[in-house]
Amino acid sequence: MKWEGLIKKYREFLPVTEHTPALTLMEGNTPLIPLEKISAKFDVEIHVKTEGTNPTGSFKDRGMVMAVAKAKEEGSNTVICASTGNTSAAAAAYAARAGMRAIIVIPNGKIALGKLAQAMMYGAEIVSIEGNFDEALKMVRKISETSPITLVNSVNPYRIEGQKTAAFEICDQLGKAPDILAIPVGNAGNITAYWKGFKEYHEKFNTGLPRMHGFEAEGAAAIVKKKVIEQPETVATAIRIGNPASWEKAAQARDESKGQIDFVTDAEILEAFQMLTREEGIFAEPASCASIAGIIKHRKSGQIPAGSTIAAVLTGNGLKDPQTAIEQVTKKPVVLPNDEKVVFDYIEGVVRA
Ligand code: F0G
Repeated sequence: MKWEGLIKKYREFLPVTEHTPALTLMEGNTPLIPLEKISAKFDVEIHVKTEGTNPTGSFKDRGMVMAVAKAKEEGSNTVICASTGNTSAAAAAYAARAGMRAIIVIPNGKIALGKLAQAMMYGAEIVSIEGNFDEALKMVRKISETSPITLVNSVNPYRIEGQKTAAFEICDQLGKAPDILAIPVGNAGNITAYWKGFKEYHEKFNTGLPRMHGFEAEGAAAIVKKKVIEQPETVATAIRIGNPASWEKAAQARDESKGQIDFVTDAEILEAFQMLTREEGIFAEPASCASIAGIIKHRKSGQIPAGSTIAAVLTGNGLKDPQTAIEQVTKKPVVLPNDEKVVFDYIEGVVRA
């Protein structure tokens, strides 16, 4: 059947009325790809949900299509969000599509280049503050209370509604829920959304429930360390968040599912980043790789049993953060003169090696 976007496909599960605009950029319906080598190496069956194939390159499109459609339905003409980058790209894109204005507040210098380029191109009003995401979120929450602007961070319940559809797709793609759902955790909206989605689908189709394994970055691991991190730091800028807005809901998802929330180090994230690209041909941004790093950690510790079926969420496309990618690779492109002999000699040397 022709794909017509999330709102049409999952209408019965979403807060859609006859007045909800038919907004879509054909988000959703993302591939679930089995990992061959990494699965074999760690004696589990891993499938990755490649959310980087969404229209703006991250899972945020699922939530944003719903949040922007509802904002439009309610008569708003401006949306606002704080963002580590992906939310702002999605908000700007869907606002453009819906003929609305987007205002975004971002931490200066801590946004991956691709995401910034997107927000600029989609025509958002961009405010870059000398502060972090948590501080930006506090500001936009406050201003949205007193101004006629719709907040589209994941504290907006429509965001969670849209994002839960990824859990539906995983159940359909696997034929049932996986044993374990591995997912990066930043502001904790997505783990909340997936758990809601798995529960609703199970209620309707008896698809089963996974254990939720969420992974924060070590330098931003508020939930794991049970304290607000005032100055979060991590190479995975998307999850550089020290006071997650959906903290309690994430803890609830963990506890209800008999799962765990743990942290992974930047070194573990970067190792998974390279492993995914080189061994599987899949390029996901660093924050996404926290899910793979976490699986490896929990396999080594025995927190994930051998033979488990695991769905890992790869939240964003690798092209979002070209800078971090290039910095990781020691083997740089070779520059040679425009001379056939020199180039051929070099290539023949590579082939022989
Ligand atoms: N992965 C990526 C690529 C993200 O952009 C985010 C969050 C997460 C994981 C974590 O998801 O916040 O629901 O726990 N990015 C937000 C943003 C904060 O502004 O783009 P979460």
